Amino acid sequence: MRHERLTADFADAASALPLEVAVVVPTLNEVGNVEALIANLSLVLAGRGWEVVFVDDNSSDGTSGLIRSIGRDLRHVRVVERVGRRGLSSAVIEGILATAAPTVVVMDGDLQHDAGILPQLIDAVTLDGADIAIGTRYNQGGTVGDWDAGRARMSRLATRLGQVALGTNVSDPMSGFFAVDRTAFERSLPKLSGIGFKILLDLLASSPTTLRVAEVPYSFGKRVAGESKLGARVLAEYAELIAEKSIGRFVPVRMFKFLFVGGLGVFVHLGVLTTALHAGYSFLAAQTAAVMIAIASNFFLNNSFTYADRKLRGWKVIPGLASFYAISAAGAVANIGIGNWMAGQDERWWVAGMAGVIVGAVWNFAMSGSVTWRK
Ligand code: GDD
Ligand code: MN
Repeated sequence: MRHERLTADFADAASALPLEVAVVVPTLNEVGNVEALIANLSLVLAGRGWEVVFVDDNSSDGTSGLIRSIGRDLRHVRVVERVGRRGLSSAVIEGILATAAPTVVVMDGDLQHDAGILPQLIDAVTLDGADIAIGTRYNQGGTVGDWDAGRARMSRLATRLGQVALGTNVSDPMSGFFAVDRTAFERSLPKLSGIGFKILLDLLASSPTTLRVAEVPYSFGKRVAGESKLGARVLAEYAELIAEKSIGRFVPVRMFKFLFVGGLGVFVHLGVLTTALHAGYSFLAAQTAAVMIAIASNFFLNNSFTYADRKLRGWKVIPGLASFYAISAAGAVANIGIGNWMAGQDERWWVAGMAGVIVGAVWNFAMSGSVTWRK
């Protein structure tokens, strides 16, 4: 088997000592990298009580099978496998929860994070009293390696955005490479969003107290095997995390998404209405079609966007759509009722109109969240 050398070299090492540090590694199709990573960890962590916990999202390339087969010989090599779930941040959170270690290092599984600085990261937490020690590419000689100008600029921009939105002066809040004290992690845990790629940012923004932060520079390496998962979806999730951690403290981000979809619904409505009128239908028929189609379109947009995390699929779309129609109908009745009542209290037509719209929207948001897309 391929890992025989690894086993022979490192079999007796880590498991005998009390557990001091765990390395949590999220993986998605990293079969070509895990053996080298374990070998690197074994070298730099020799003499410590350590374990590595991989959190694998059901990779199709056999990543988890390989780790399990190594783990039969090296008990300090473990894998938590998740099925039907995705996401770097949530994987890291679950990995930390799966270990008993008092100090946890989070690092990528693709060898881009330099294992050579692990002792410095760990010592900053265990010896120097930092809550979190961050591997930084942007301070004291750290570098992004040989990124092209485009990606380097994008990363800089995203870093600035993160710093401003969260009011942090950490030089590399986007880093996915850090050591954290378990107690500090647990203080942030109740507030963690777990969305997307940026677990460090999430941790920093979710801490109820100011964290004692240390930074250790390193150079971001080149990916040798496998490919990066950074794509449009990762960027969208980043935007969502930032929104959640800034304005989301006051108003749920989901509500903004819901209102945005509702706003699009107005355009769908008017589009259908004018098309049907031009096709010669009566206003009543055209308006009815416009309402029905706009509600359906709102349903599908909310299903894939606002409630992407609870998306209804397959046959479940049918009762979902039916409940959404029923809720929207009741919302319209509430809208008209409140508007009408308000019109008797205040002579400004738009105040009455808006009152109806607000009550209807809040009703639709609250009800569809607890019925159509209930948890
Ligand atoms: N379990 C799991 N689930 N792991 C994932 C997922 C996922 O959905 N997506 C990515 N990973 C794993 C990859 O297998 C890899 O080990 C690690 O997370 C990083 O993913 P990459 O696709 O290689 O990301 P990157 O190189 O663009 O960026 C990373 O490095 C930056 C620099 O430190 C990320 O970790 C960033 O957060 C980090 O800032
Ligand atoms: Mn990478």
